Amino acid sequence: MGKNTRTILICSGKGGVGKTTLTANLGIALANSGATTAVLDADFGLRNLDLLLGLENRIIKEAIVVTNPELSAVRDADRVIGILNTSDIEPIQLVINRVRPNMMASQEMLSIEDVQGILSLPLLGIVLEDEQVIISTNRGEPLTLSDGRSPAKKCYLNVSQRLTNKDVPIIDPKKEGKSLKDKFMRLMQTKVF
Ligand SMILES: Nc1ncnc2c1ncn2[C@@H]1O[C@H](COP(=O)(O)OP(=O)(O)OP(=O)(O)O)[C@@H](O)[C@H]1O
Ligand SMILES: [Mg+2]
Repeated sequence: MGKNTRTILICSGKGGVGKTTLTANLGIALANSGATTAVLDADFGLRNLDLLLGLENRIIKEAIVVTNPELSAVRDADRVIGILNTSDIEPIQLVINRVRPNMMASQEMLSIEDVQGILSLPLLGIVLEDEQVIISTNRGEPLTLSDGRSPAKKCYLNVSQRLTNKDVPIIDPKKEGKSLKDKFMRLMQTKVF
């Protein structure tokens, strides 16, 4: 491995929060930006993460913890962060996946600030809930490979840029909510029916 090689562990406490999709999409975004990128999707549970770190902590230099804005996922992320904190890995950054701006706005979902407050990690980025992720997962073709625009794709590119130290702000879920017209239409529907 060259002097400039970065080895990043992408992990979570709870399963199914979006590690594989984030890893695949980040890998492609980083490769598109010119970096030589290798991606490995290993299946390590919480119980043997400390084993992995014991063996590999000379190789793994930094980590990204992925969580969803849900209590069970955040609680399990906290346990993983506890284990990571016993290693030399630094920085440990946070990605909050499956963010729903409207649910956050109506306080039906933990906010970005809530999650960050509980986990106290620097926030690398957020990824919006986006059905295009599910469609592309089922196709077996990561979203960042497709030509179209989609909310999650924009987020993956944002995370990739921030990971390579580009000075770009985190996507703000408050600005990504439904448009005024959508809100108005919904309001009308509730009134009518
Ligand atoms: N931002 C998103 N919006 C919508 N669906 C998503 C999003 N991120 C992930 N998903 C969906 O969630 C499911 C789980 O994602 P993924 O397989 O990446 O999780 P994982 O953490 O790797 O799971 P495991 O712990 O089983 O390895 C997939 O079906 C994926 O399409
Ligand atoms: Mg996976």
